[in-house]
Amino acid sequence: MEQTKILLEESDMPKQWYNIAADMPNPVQATLHPVTKQPVGPDDLAPLFPMQLILQEVSRDRWIDIPEDIQAIYRLWRPSPLMRASRFEKVLGTPAKIYFKYEGVSPAGSHKPNTAVAQAYYNKMEGVKRITTETGAGQWGSALSLACNFFNIECKVYMVKVSYNQKPYRRSMMQTWGASVVASPSDQTQAGRKILAQNPDSSGSLGIAISEAVEDAATHDDTKYSLGSVLNHVLMHQTIIGLEAKKQFEKVGDFPDIVIGCVGGGSNFAGVSFPFLYDKIHGKDIRVIAVEPTACPTLTRGPFAYDFGDSIGLAPIVPMHTLGHSFVPPPIHAGGLRYHGMAPAVSQLFKDKLIEAQAYHQLEVFDAAVLFSRTEGILPAPETAHAIKSVIVEALKAKEEGVEKTILFNFSGHGHFDMSAYDAYFSKKLTDYSLPESEIQRALEDIKDMPKPK
Ligand SMILES: Cc1ncc(COP(=O)(O)O)c(C=O)c1O
Repeated sequence: MEQTKILLEESDMPKQWYNIAADMPNPVQATLHPVTKQPVGPDDLAPLFPMQLILQEVSRDRWIDIPEDIQAIYRLWRPSPLMRASRFEKVLGTPAKIYFKYEGVSPAGSHKPNTAVAQAYYNKMEGVKRITTETGAGQWGSALSLACNFFNIECKVYMVKVSYNQKPYRRSMMQTWGASVVASPSDQTQAGRKILAQNPDSSGSLGIAISEAVEDAATHDDTKYSLGSVLNHVLMHQTIIGLEAKKQFEKVGDFPDIVIGCVGGGSNFAGVSFPFLYDKIHGKDIRVIAVEPTACPTLTRGPFAYDFGDSIGLAPIVPMHTLGHSFVPPPIHAGGLRYHGMAPAVSQLFKDKLIEAQAYHQLEVFDAAVLFSRTEGILPAPETAHAIKSVIVEALKAKEEGVEKTILFNFSGHGHFDMSAYDAYFSKKLTDYSLPESEIQRALEDIKDMPKPK
C-alpha cells in the first residue's frame, strides 16, 4: 500500500531553525537607513523590533534553538503532514512523484503562524505590550492575532483595503483572537492620509500598509512592529517546514529533485526550500523554483536594486528584486503575492543562480487550483495555487521527457476564506493581466538615485 500521509511524532519536531546565512556563497548585502542611506546597526532597528529578533536578523550561526514555549504552541498543529498527491499524479499521467507539505493545518490556515508565534514570544520576553502589522490576504494578520492572543499582547492590523472588502470573514477571525483591524490606507496615520490625499480610491497595497504599521509602532513607546515575510529572521522561522519535510522524506526513502514554492515576500518558499538549498550548495543536484504572478513579477521582471521595504520610504532600504516601492500591483486575488519587493536572501540566491523563478497568469493558476481540489480534495489559497501551476508544468515536462522526478511543493495555505475569488473565477469575471513595461519603468524611476548593490 502506498503511503498518503507521511507523519512525524511530536517528539520528532526539529528543535532548531536553519539559518541559511551560514551557507550562502554571497551574503545578503547591508540594509541601509531610510534617511542617511548608511548601513543600519542593531540600535537603528531597536524602535521597531525586540533585540533577540534583531540578533537573529544578523546572525551567521547555522542553527538557532527554538525555545520550548514556542515549540509547545507549534505542537498544536506541528509536525504538519507531508502528503503524497497520487491522485493528482494520475490525472496528470506523469511519472513524477508529487509530494506536498500541508501548512493549511495551522489554526490560521497557513504557514504564517510559524513565525508569528516566534515573533510574539520574543516581544513578550522584552515586555512589549502592543504589536502592529500589515496584512494582504489576511493570512498574516490572522496568524499574528492568534500568536498575540496566546502571549496576551495587543495586536493592531492594517489590512490592504481590497482584501478588507473581499474577505470580511478574515477580519472576523482576527477579531475573534482579539485584534483590531483597519482598512489601509486609513486616516489613522500620516502615511495613510498622504496616500488618500493623492488617491481617495486607492485599493491599497502591502507597501502602503507596511508604512502605516511602521509609523504606528515608531510613534508609540509601548509598541513594536512585526513583519510577516521578507526579513531574514522571518524566513528562518519558516525553515521548520523544510526541516520536517527532510525527516519525512527519510522515512519513505525518497528525496526531492525539484522543490517549489509560491513567493510574495518569500517566506513560505524559503521555509520549504532553504533546508534543501543547504544540500544544493553542498553539491546535490536539485532545482528550486519560486513562483509569482505575472501581475506582480518581482523576480522575473524587476531588477536587483536597493529599495525601500515599504511604499512611503519609512522602512529600511534593502537589496532586493523590486518593481519599485511606488508600484501598486493590480488587484489580483492572490493578495499575499502583491508586494513590490522580495526577501533580500531570496533575491541574492536568485542573483547567484541557486534558485529559478517562474510567473503565471491568474486564470491558469485557478485552473490548477480547481484540478488539484477535484483530485486531492483540498482547496488551495490562490497564492498556493501558483505553486500548483508550476508543479503541473514540471510534472508534464517529466512526462514528456519520460523521467521519474520527485517534486515537493509547499501547500502554504487553504483557500476557505478565498471563495469570493473562486466565485469570480466560476462566473468568468476573472481576467488575466499583463503588466505593461511602461508601468514597471515608471515605478523604477523613483529608485534611480538609490545606492547600487554589488
Ligand atoms: C497562503 C499564503 N501563501 C503564500 C503567501 C505569500 O507570502 P510569503 O511569500 O511570505 O510566503 C501568503 C501571504 O499572505 C499566503 O497567505
